[in-house]
Amino acid sequence: MALITLTSASGSPGVTTTAVGLALTRGRPTIVLDADPTGGSAILAGYLRGQIVPPDALVELVMAQQHGRLRSTIPTVTMPVPDSKVSLIPGPRSHTQTGALTGLWEPLLAALKGLTETGQDTIVDLGRLGLAGSATPLLYGADLALVVCRSDLVSLSGARSWVGSLRTEFEQMGAGTELGVLLVGPGHPYGAREVRDALGAPVLASVDWDPKAAAAFSAGATVRKLPSTALVRSLRAVDAALTRTLAAARSELLDVEEEAV
Ligand SMILES: Nc1ncnc2c1ncn2[C@@H]1O[C@H](COP(=O)(O)OP(=O)(O)OP(=O)(O)O)[C@@H](O)[C@H]1O
Ligand SMILES: [Mg+2]
Repeated sequence: MALITLTSASGSPGVTTTAVGLALTRGRPTIVLDADPTGGSAILAGYLRGQIVPPDALVELVMAQQHGRLRSTIPTVTMPVPDSKVSLIPGPRSHTQTGALTGLWEPLLAALKGLTETGQDTIVDLGRLGLAGSATPLLYGADLALVVCRSDLVSLSGARSWVGSLRTEFEQMGAGTELGVLLVGPGHPYGAREVRDALGAPVLASVDWDPKAAAAFSAGATVRKLPSTALVRSLRAVDAALTRTLAAARSELLDVEEEAV
């Protein structure tokens, strides 16, 4: 598929839960990169319940980048997630680390995009927009940039200006990144169409409201029959919808290139 970046404007709408759930559900080789500058490695503490002591992956990648060994180092710092085709690049241990990572994001983006050619996709948890130390190159350089948002008024009100300014920036850059909204909990209370109209951007996919199943991905809760929950079924549909969006964007790009020849 591609490199997909998930971010949010306000609240905690479900970026980490959706990133982890989508990666685990799609059943294809996927790297999850935790780039949330808040630090504290929410995926290690949450889905993995603090049971694994990870390498200081991002610091090792910074050093590898300085020695021209970034691409070959990526496999050595990714942690395989048990019983899945997912591997995790753990996030900054603390927000104080993020200043030292500024120069990493651009080359890491290029390296991870290079891996998509080998069938390895990447899903990035960027955390909230506008934080100090935010890994913005992973947003502006993604194939697909998704603002995760719930459907209530507070969430929509928080996302509206961010989505508007991102749309303008992406249009000005013309860099080939698809920007859209990933809606968590359509119908609680607003539906996808209302959200699209309120935010002025397409709702590219929706994840069902399912707190119990969500806790499996956000907190490592044990959930019976997880694969048949509403959340997991909707995550499968999300994967299919995003694949279609990316395919359509690629064929549009090819048409433009052909016209230019
Ligand atoms: N589809 C969903 N249905 C119900 N609850 C959900 C859903 N997705 C996430 N949640 C719940 O919402 C809470 C916040 O989720 P999560 O930590 O993924 O948000 P976040 O956007 O990553 O937040 P932060 O910006 O603080 O990192 C968690 O309790 C999680 O279980
Ligand atoms: Mg998070």
